[in-house]
Amino acid sequence: MPRAIISPSVLASDFGQLTAECKRMIKGGAEWLHMDVMDGHFVPNITMGAPILSCVSKGVPGIFMDCHMMVAEPEKWVNDIADAGGALYCFHLEATSDPVSLIKTIHDRKMKAGVAISPDTPSTAITDDVAAIADMLLVMTVYPGRGGQAFLERCVPKVAELRKRFPDKDIEVDGGVGPKTIDLCANAGSNVIVAGTAIFGATEPEKVIATLKATVDA
Ligand code: DX5
Ligand code: ZN
Repeated sequence: MPRAIISPSVLASDFGQLTAECKRMIKGGAEWLHMDVMDGHFVPNITMGAPILSCVSKGVPGIFMDCHMMVAEPEKWVNDIADAGGALYCFHLEATSDPVSLIKTIHDRKMKAGVAISPDTPSTAITDDVAAIADMLLVMTVYPGRGGQAFLERCVPKVAELRKRFPDKDIEVDGGVGPKTIDLCANAGSNVIVAGTAIFGATEPEKVIATLKATVDA
């Protein structure tokens, strides 16, 4: 299994201090920052888009922005996110009819490509041709749309199914993940760990980051 990467979700941060919050996480041991882009269509909420991500990438040199695109038309934002400094563009499989060409477009813009599935989408929806060219697979462990929701344990078997099919691929989990649920995620085979509330809500986020990382790498 690939090594652990911790990606704190800035959705749980103080948006008024976004660059400082990202720097604080990197100092605390985070390698990636998870940027939740919501468009008010694919999900009911609106969060942030390319203009904000652009400020963050300028304000935090070297940042790896793991962009989780909860948008209805993922094809539409590839160029804007690339121009804003996005490192990984993760779209929802439910939102596109042609994932293969979307991944190629993302790669053309020199970003890594991720494919996300919501709780009701089976792991088999990620076909071999899509997985072969994707850099990362994301199994949502809550319904996308807001932070702070309870972890859906019934999504965990999908992680195990994907890990069995793709032993070397980065597999991310997102939603309700923290010290209480990391064992399930790590045992199933996820190695990229998103956590919002569990990290930003902690008095010592660096300790939470270290715990999550150590559990995956154990
Ligand atoms: C949910 C987002 C998640 C969320 C995670 O739609 O995709 O990234 O911010 O937050 P927690 O860890 O609080 O569930
Ligand atoms: Zn997310």
